[in-house]
Amino acid sequence: MAPPGPAGAHPTSAEPLSRSIFRKFLLMLCSLLTSLYVFYCLAERCQTLSGPVVGLSGGGEEAGAPGRGVLAEGPRELAVWPAAAQRKRLLQLRQWRRRRRPSRRESGEEAAWEEETPGLAGGPGGSGAGSSVAEAPPGTLALLLDEGSKQLPQAIIIGVKKGGTRALLEFLRVHPDVRAVGAEPHFFDRSYDKGLAWYRDLMPRTLEGQITMEKTPSYFVTREAPARISAMSKDTKLIVVVRDPVTRAISDYTQTLSKRPDIPTFESLTFKNRTTGLIDTSWSAIQIGIYAKHLEHWLRHFPIGQMLFVSGERLISDPAGELGRVQDFLGLKRIITDKHFYFNKTKGFPCLKKAEGSSKPHCLGKTKGRTHPEIDREVVQRLRDFYRPFNLKFYQMTGHDFGWDG
Ligand code: A3P
Repeated sequence: MAPPGPAGAHPTSAEPLSRSIFRKFLLMLCSLLTSLYVFYCLAERCQTLSGPVVGLSGGGEEAGAPGRGVLAEGPRELAVWPAAAQRKRLLQLRQWRRRRRPSRRESGEEAAWEEETPGLAGGPGGSGAGSSVAEAPPGTLALLLDEGSKQLPQAIIIGVKKGGTRALLEFLRVHPDVRAVGAEPHFFDRSYDKGLAWYRDLMPRTLEGQITMEKTPSYFVTREAPARISAMSKDTKLIVVVRDPVTRAISDYTQTLSKRPDIPTFESLTFKNRTTGLIDTSWSAIQIGIYAKHLEHWLRHFPIGQMLFVSGERLISDPAGELGRVQDFLGLKRIITDKHFYFNKTKGFPCLKKAEGSSKPHCLGKTKGRTHPEIDREVVQRLRDFYRPFNLKFYQMTGHDFGWDG
């Protein structure tokens, strides 16, 4: 058989046929792309309407819920969620699109987040630093210009460190009328000179009827914080998650130990002089737990009725019960109930069946719920004796026996 000649040298009858197939293929490709584009634009438009939101998934982050899919739920979930929830989710989606950055898990930020990253510049849950409207898909820009506004927080979780503040904030964010900064702003202790406009800019956008929140546990022990928060607004609602001060101190120490394994033992840091048994109250792990002393400063600026004390222990044993109290205090409808929680045996803590903006179960990260080192019993007892009078005073001041000395 003769070998085929060079292409084009001997035109065959098959050639016009292949050209026409190619032309048809191009035509089909064009129409497919056009319909895809039209479909995309329509979907964009649909999201602005009040009807059911199209189930979208996104691995992006939003101010406060980085790394979670947004609007990943299907129609079943949407039927359950009230219109406010849909509005909130829509807002979150848009804000996420504006700031499309790698998710917390993608970028390995989880640990930093859980460790209460100071400041927000460029951090997760920030105000949009590093965001780029230009990154938003076409058609979104116009929608982004007039969606809610940034407000100063009406409620702040002011403490206490290692009390369970992250758990409380994460649980509260499930509420459609709560919008919160994810990372700790540390405005009233470290960045006050930056001014309220800077602070407000860190906040997520809210729609009418939504509450803006943040949590920075160090405020509770910052002398200047009560006056500064009162100067921002006398009406600010303050939430304090408190936990047995002895366990709290051990938890605090455990956190430091995880970062600096070479620190002295808990026992040696506890005492000024181990022989005399004099406690070192200048050690912050001990100092933070003298709740009555810190509270006195707050009561010079706020009435006790404007403060809510959440039991860190009950937040673990009965999260829905504590969340009920918090929702009442914030004037919110009781939407977060026991249906939202399940006990995760592996984690050993309650977790969310669905986190904010996600359809997936969510437990706190591994920096929450660490195993504590074994502490000398005598030292623990000595600390219990030390804290008892302060605890009793605290129970009196708050009108609530937290049962740490029972
Ligand atoms: P431990 O790690 O010592 O157990 P904060 O968020 O204020 O730093 O508090 C951390 C503490 O929150 C943890 O201390 C843990 O006991 C407590 N906590 C409360 N509810 C939790 C939950 N659902 N998951 C994980 N930790 C929780």
